[in-house]
Amino acid sequence: MKIALIGYGKMGKQLEKSAALREHKIAAVIDPYAKEKASRLGSIIETSIDDSKNISEADVAIEFSKPDSAFKNIKQLSDMQIPTVVGTTNWYDKLADIKEIVEINGSSIIYAPNFSIGVNLFYRIAQYAAKLFNSFDDYDVGGFEVHHNEKLESPSGTAKTLVEKVISEFKRKKSPIWETVNRKIEDEELHFPSLRMGAVPGTHSLIFDSYADSVQITHTARNRSGFAYGTLYAAEWLIAEPRKGVFTIDDILDNLVGPCL
Ligand SMILES: NC(=O)c1ccc[n+]([C@@H]2O[C@H](COP(=O)([O-])OP(=O)(O)OC[C@H]3O[C@@H](n4cnc5c(N)ncnc54)[C@H](O)[C@@H]3O)[C@@H](O)[C@H]2O)c1
Repeated sequence: MKIALIGYGKMGKQLEKSAALREHKIAAVIDPYAKEKASRLGSIIETSIDDSKNISEADVAIEFSKPDSAFKNIKQLSDMQIPTVVGTTNWYDKLADIKEIVEINGSSIIYAPNFSIGVNLFYRIAQYAAKLFNSFDDYDVGGFEVHHNEKLESPSGTAKTLVEKVISEFKRKKSPIWETVNRKIEDEELHFPSLRMGAVPGTHSLIFDSYADSVQITHTARNRSGFAYGTLYAAEWLIAEPRKGVFTIDDILDNLVGPCL
C-alpha cells in the first residue's frame, strides 16, 4: 500500500514507523508546519495537498492533523478520489457536509475518534457486561480514566464513548458525573472521574460492584502503536475492495466479529 500522510505530528510519525514494519510505503507526507525537512525514514515533507508532487502516487491517504484543518483536507482528498482514513477528532459537526461531498464524488472515507482495535473491542465487552449486570439490582457501576499530565481535556473522548455505551444498557444509570461531587451521588448517576499524572498513555477502567464482589475490566494503552495499527488496518480494509461512502471502525468490526448486541 502506498500511503499519503496528512499531518506529521505525533501520530503521523508513529504511522510512518508502523507502516514501515508492515512493509507499506510512504508516498507523500504533507504538513504545513512540520519543522523537519525530511523525516528519519526518508520521507520528504511537503506543505500542502494542492502543491504536492507526490500525492498522486498514493493508494490511500491517512489524515491526522488538527480539528480546524480536517474538513478542508478531507474534501480535497475526496475531490481527488483518494480513499481516506481520518483519525483527526472534533470535526464531526461537518460530518453531514462530508457525507454529501463523498456521495457526490463517489469516493470513500473511514473515520473513528479512536482507531485502537483493543479499545473498540473493549467498548463491546463493556457494553455487553453492562447488559448482563443490568439484570441484577445488587450491582452498581462506575469507573475512572488515567492519562499523562500533558493531556488537554478531561474526560477523554474514549471515556465519554465508553460511558455512553454502558448507560445505553445499564438502565439504572441515566447521567455521567465526571467531576468531584461534594455530596452523595444519586442512584441514576454514573461516576467516572479522571486522573492526570506522569506519562500514562491512557487507562480506562470500568467497575461493576456489589456488597459481595467486584468485577473490573480495564483497557491499558502502552503507547500510540495501537492507534497506528488500527489505522493501517482500516486503510487496508478501505481499499481491499472498491468501497464507496463514509464508514466507521464499527463497519470493520461488524464485518469481522458481527454486530455488537
Ligand atoms: N482516531 C484516533 O485513533 C486518534 C489517536 C490519536 C490522536 N487522534 C487525533 O488525531 C489528531 C492528531 O493527533 P496528534 O497527536 O498527531 O497531534 P499533533 O498536534 O502531534 O500533530 C498534528 C499535526 O498536524 C499538522 N497540521 C496542522 N494543520 C495541518 C494541515 N492543514 N494539513 C496537514 N497537517 C496539518 C501540525 O503541524 C502537526 O504536525 C488530533 O485530532 C487527535 O485528537 C486520533
